Amino acid sequence: MNKQPLEITINGESCSLAVDSNRTLLELLREDLDLTGTKEGCGEGVCGGCTVLMDGKPVRSCLTLAVEASGTHITTVEGLAQNGEIDPLQQSFIDHGAVQCGFCTSGMLMAAKGLALNNPHAGKIEIINAMSGHICRCTGYTKIIEAVEAVVDRSKEKR
Ligand code: FES
Ligand code: FES
Repeated sequence: MNKQPLEITINGESCSLAVDSNRTLLELLREDLDLTGTKEGCGEGVCGGCTVLMDGKPVRSCLTLAVEASGTHITTVEGLAQNGEIDPLQQSFIDHGAVQCGFCTSGMLMAAKGLALNNPHAGKIEIINAMSGHICRCTGYTKIIEAVEAVVDRSKEKR
């Protein structure tokens, strides 16, 4: 397999790599760069566990070729904390008991972060829609939606 050059920024760090043309972004992150916070569930675009942000938009990294991410900024769950402080969404998931086994959590957080960045005043229906492609076998979703809503609510107060 021919290696393709790849210039990519991951969690604020620029990387120059060479990757197989059929390597997925998920494989690049987990296997080559040891960013294992991004999870592989179905590997088929169904569960949402592998979601990362590409230029601020949620994408399924199992369905994205690494070479497709060339020239983009990728944010994984490891990049959410800033200056030693976890993201308000991470704190809200803790506060609302929205994490049980945690397998879906990074994908949920990245979907929620994408929503917070692109539609910070989203209403409940928009939140539900944004999270709807994400499967959680533990919490039953209510606490996850409440955790996201609490952060969006806080941003509404600042308007
Ligand atoms: Fe990518 Fe399930 S592992 S959507
Ligand atoms: Fe276990 Fe969601 S917390 S799958």
